[in-house]
Amino acid sequence: MSAGELPRLVVLLSGRGSNFRAIQDAIEGGRLEARIAAVISDRPGADGLALAEQAGIDTVSLERTRFPDRAAYEHALETAIAGFEPRYIVLAGFMRVLGDRFVNRHMGRLVNIHPSLLPRHRGLDTHRRVLEAGEGEHGASVHFVTPALDAGPVISRVQFDVATDDDPDRLADRLLPLEHRLYPATLALLLTHQVELRHETIYIDEYPLETPLEFERDLSSDGRLLARRDGG
Ligand code: GAR
Repeated sequence: MSAGELPRLVVLLSGRGSNFRAIQDAIEGGRLEARIAAVISDRPGADGLALAEQAGIDTVSLERTRFPDRAAYEHALETAIAGFEPRYIVLAGFMRVLGDRFVNRHMGRLVNIHPSLLPRHRGLDTHRRVLEAGEGEHGASVHFVTPALDAGPVISRVQFDVATDDDPDRLADRLLPLEHRLYPATLALLLTHQVELRHETIYIDEYPLETPLEFERDLSSDGRLLARRDGG
């Protein structure tokens, strides 16, 4: 496939951009057949924008404060995204809640990575909340975005055991490399299978996904579906 024919992604981020970088690394390493057409940020100083520029990827910076209200902001965001004609809009540490109108227009093509085992711990501060709840596992989830915050159907998850000496920073550090493997694998799945979202149910090649795909049990790092060991 020539670069012009590859499915295009637009990445939205607010900060460091390590998940963006991991997706771009997967593309460069041949594990993900796609092209990141643009990286868009709500923060002009985001490190992720600089990383994208270094990689020769188009960048757009759209600060919320430059627009009178959320509707005007999201209209500008939509116009910017539409110009790149993406197959998927990939939220990678985009720390702004998108409005219902925006989400509804893009539902099924809008994915996010969240640092918890959804449906547990929607919202912020997930690492601290896992420890406070005394939970034995932590992880990350990739989900379709729907109007309710972090409540859209989960496509895939990665999990690991919490250690007795973990603190929130250590949990975040342990999770991040797993996010970097989960997100490209999930995008590869989305681009190589027929995946659809219908009435909050995910269908993969016409089969409903009853439970999220567990990374390396159900989903390989290059996006292949593996036989489920639990027979499910
Ligand atoms: C990641 O840990 C991602 O899961 C989280 O922000 C971090 C972004 O890191 N996203 C959320 O909390 C979304 N609610 P990165 O900028 O290095 O990819």
